[in-house]
Amino acid sequence: MIGSVGVIFGETGSHTYRFAVTDPADVKRTDYVKVWHPTDGWVLGQILTMTRSAGNDNKDRLVATVSVIGARDNSGLLRSPKTPFRPGDKVYIAEEDVIVDTLGLSEGGAYLGVLDGTDIPVTVDRNKLIQKHCSILAMTGSGKSYTAAVIMEEMMEREVPLLIIDPHGEYATLKEPNDDPDMDALSEKFDIEPYGYDNVYIYTPGNKKVCEYADRTLRLNGLNLKPKEIIEYVPSELNNTEIGLIYEAVNALKHDNINYTIKDVLVEIGSSHSNTKWGVYNKLEPLLDSEFLSDKPTPLVELFTRGRTSIIDMKGIHPEVQQTIVSKLLSNLFEARKAGLVPPGMVVVEEAHNFCPEKGFSKTTCSDVLRAIASEGRKFGLGLLIISQRPAKVDKNVLSQCNTQIIMRVTNPNDIRAITKSLEGISTELEEEIKRLPPGVAMLVSPDIPRAVMVQVRARKSKHGGASKEISEDIEPEEVDYEDEEEEIEEPARPSVGGSIFRKIFGRG
Ligand SMILES: Nc1ncnc2c1ncn2[C@@H]1O[C@H](COP(=O)(O)OP(=O)(O)OP(=O)(O)O)[C@@H](O)[C@H]1O
Ligand SMILES: [Mg+2]
Repeated sequence: MIGSVGVIFGETGSHTYRFAVTDPADVKRTDYVKVWHPTDGWVLGQILTMTRSAGNDNKDRLVATVSVIGARDNSGLLRSPKTPFRPGDKVYIAEEDVIVDTLGLSEGGAYLGVLDGTDIPVTVDRNKLIQKHCSILAMTGSGKSYTAAVIMEEMMEREVPLLIIDPHGEYATLKEPNDDPDMDALSEKFDIEPYGYDNVYIYTPGNKKVCEYADRTLRLNGLNLKPKEIIEYVPSELNNTEIGLIYEAVNALKHDNINYTIKDVLVEIGSSHSNTKWGVYNKLEPLLDSEFLSDKPTPLVELFTRGRTSIIDMKGIHPEVQQTIVSKLLSNLFEARKAGLVPPGMVVVEEAHNFCPEKGFSKTTCSDVLRAIASEGRKFGLGLLIISQRPAKVDKNVLSQCNTQIIMRVTNPNDIRAITKSLEGISTELEEEIKRLPPGVAMLVSPDIPRAVMVQVRARKSKHGGASKEISEDIEPEEVDYEDEEEEIEEPARPSVGGSIFRKIFGRG
């Protein structure tokens, strides 16, 4: 152990103290420090601020303010010291094992990065990420998508099924290894190797013209739709007469006892004598043009299966249609999960403020299903990863269910308020900290770690998408044989055993 880096002075409390820094070269803000306490042993703290002032002798002096984290007692519980430190107590730099033990950092979970300013890996339990949901909130350009991709990589390594709602087509590069010019240094720093993931499939609800690099098309069932389903799919509002016409048309088709498509419904409406038929005809026509309704829908067991990542690439899809698709797709997935037809896994929602906006901002059809998954998904092992640059505009019911929160730089006061509201006991210092976070550094609030920690997010193994995406065209998806996956798909959806099923399938962490 190197010598002390300073001495405590002035008024001390159980939660904070200040110390006079001996040598400015020894310590910096965010460093972890320890002080010996006669009854509690080594007590960990973190330097929150450093200030410079002139002392009595007119000499410059550097003062560090430390937030006390605590010490583990005999039964392993993290406790604040029972009595304050004494002025004159010496402060030391905390060694790695003290930090790891006190913060309770464990190994083997999803590796997010290193504790900022150290080489200590930070991991979070995968089961908790899924069962208790996760949010990544930050202003634009601060590294949300990058961090989301790190989590996806960690999930893929345990073959957790992933369904990614990708409005900007930026996750296709998961297939390619990271080609960062600094990759050697990054590999060394984070102990990772560049890697392109194979079992990633890009689905477009449109066609190859809309999304040229898509592997497959996403199709939802368009056969024998009930009037209510048709109405849900119509992007514009329908009045009662128009709704009546749809019911009449569907009833007539049902009466004939044949399989019918949207086109048949349109023909039927066209043959009506009502004057309003052209209005409803016009509103239904976009459904005919958008190809996502089909008599051969994409099977959910194909989209959401062990070891596979399915990206729903929304490139070129009208925003309202995106919402309709996401709403229906996630409702189907949630039902399938409840019925045990698909394994536990994770759904990633980028730009979540567009899919589950806070009341008053706009109305979307997917809010209900996202709220349902957020509140009930944990029973069934269907996790959400919610990503947004406008936390204030995301449905609070959804955000408040995210127990793991990854917060990167945010400066908008409304957004900071939205974040702090959903966090218990966040201090004003942490609020300040959030405003100043450099790109790639995140504040992690996790059920595993007793207090918020700053994490330097690890480099990606796969290439980061975003601005330029050249996806190789030569990737032909192989036909998937689900026969030998039967075992995983078949496991029952018994709420009380969700956790253990998950553990059985994906292992611990
Ligand atoms: N952990 C990291 N390590 C290295 N570079 C990073 C990291 N996080 C972010 N970056 C860099 O910052 C840029 C912006 O990150 P990212 O695309 O994730 O931002 P974002 O928050 O998703 O922005 P937007 O709101 O516009 O989607 C990336 O292009 C990447 O180069
Ligand atoms: Mg992004």
